[in-house]
Amino acid sequence: MVVGFREFRVADKVAESDIITSFYLEPTDGAPVWEVKPGQYLTLRMPGDGDPVLKTYSVSCDPSETRHHRITVKREAGLNGAPDGVGSCWLHDQVEVGQIIDIAAPRGAFVLDESSNRPVLLLSGGVGLTPMVSMLHRLRDSGRDVYFLHACENGRVHALRDEVLACVNDRIRARFVYRTPDEADRAAQSFDAQGVIDKAFLQNNLPVDDYEVYLCGPTPFMVAMYQLLQDVGVPKGRIAYEFFGKAKSLDQLLVKPDIRKAASRAAPTIQALTFLTDPDAWAAADEGAKHTGTPSQGEVTFRKSNTSAEWDGFAGSLLELAENAGLNPEFSCRSGICNSCKCTLVSGTVEYFEEPLIQPEEGQVLICCSRPKGAVVLDI
Ligand SMILES: Cc1cc2nc3c(=O)[nH]c(=O)nc-3n(C[C@H](O)[C@H](O)[C@H](O)COP(=O)(O)OP(=O)(O)OC[C@H]3O[C@@H](n4cnc5c(N)ncnc54)[C@H](O)[C@@H]3O)c2cc1C
Ligand code: FES
Repeated sequence: MVVGFREFRVADKVAESDIITSFYLEPTDGAPVWEVKPGQYLTLRMPGDGDPVLKTYSVSCDPSETRHHRITVKREAGLNGAPDGVGSCWLHDQVEVGQIIDIAAPRGAFVLDESSNRPVLLLSGGVGLTPMVSMLHRLRDSGRDVYFLHACENGRVHALRDEVLACVNDRIRARFVYRTPDEADRAAQSFDAQGVIDKAFLQNNLPVDDYEVYLCGPTPFMVAMYQLLQDVGVPKGRIAYEFFGKAKSLDQLLVKPDIRKAASRAAPTIQALTFLTDPDAWAAADEGAKHTGTPSQGEVTFRKSNTSAEWDGFAGSLLELAENAGLNPEFSCRSGICNSCKCTLVSGTVEYFEEPLIQPEEGQVLICCSRPKGAVVLDI
């Protein structure tokens, strides 16, 4: 068995839409499944071109489920001649019931705050609904008001619709917005509004309340929603979000004109988005925003590059700080799993906000999941 991983058998494989499939995963050791916080993800080890690749998928089932974990995966077909997505297409095309997969324990800080009594807005685009469905299950018996708002192209790509509707009651509402509904959607009245989620939609549909918002979807969708939520009066500090793609902080993206432009085209791009990796991307470092940790001060020196940067708390990790400084360090998972970002810590001390799956050797550090404690020198 691979260190840090546990074997699971695919107990069921269920098509949820034309492009999204669920995999039910049971541990082969007969022991109970892991404890999962609503919103967390699993890391799957899969065959790649050469070495195995690691891919992360949010747990999409009721987190209290004891017999299995479930992940729900969009097939990332290559567009315009690009190769198909390695992990998602392997799962869709090669994996059948009975397959054994190595999986690492649940991780991630994008989790439902269960200590709160506030009403909750679960806002998702495309396959970004997976952590929301897990949260929705947990919220069913919480006594909190819940508004589940989901945007996608149409019923052909809409996953887990019936499961979400089964959770609806006098406190839990669900609304679906389709950009391009087809005849079948119209006949079945399977959506609540056509087009994109805009200010008018929120003002007309979302009851005024003191929401905590959980947001996940393609990056342009998230940028657009992050702005929109603030336009209708939701404070940043109440918006937690997770990227399924490579990104940093929504506040940083909001000030980049190219991304703002992309956001204005959010809906058409929803299905075409490339999902890479960047878990745990909360609204970091803004005053009043939810935070993965307290920033410390200190200069970070990238010795090989002859560059330095002040740790000001706006970067989520040392990796992000290096990228913001114009460097391109190696990375893959961005969550302490793959060790691709390992480098030598020449001097100083770092702390991990996400514990590495496998601890690096003495004098080495994973920069994707750590931040400096005071001044540090890295051999980058
Ligand atoms: C915390 C977290 C949770 C996640 N949860 C989910 C989830 O619940 N469900 C889900 O479906 N996904 C989820 N993801 C995304 C998932 O981890 C993968 O990133 C996703 O499945 C794509 O991986 P892949 O190996 O299939 O694609 P990759 O091989 O990584 O490729 C990504 C895309 O790039 C395109 N591409 C590849 N090579 C090229 C090239 N040379 N030129 C142009 N395009 C190219 C591919 O066609 C594909 O569309 C999550 C990600 C994170 C970080
Ligand atoms: S990028 Fe994978 S451990 Fe840092």
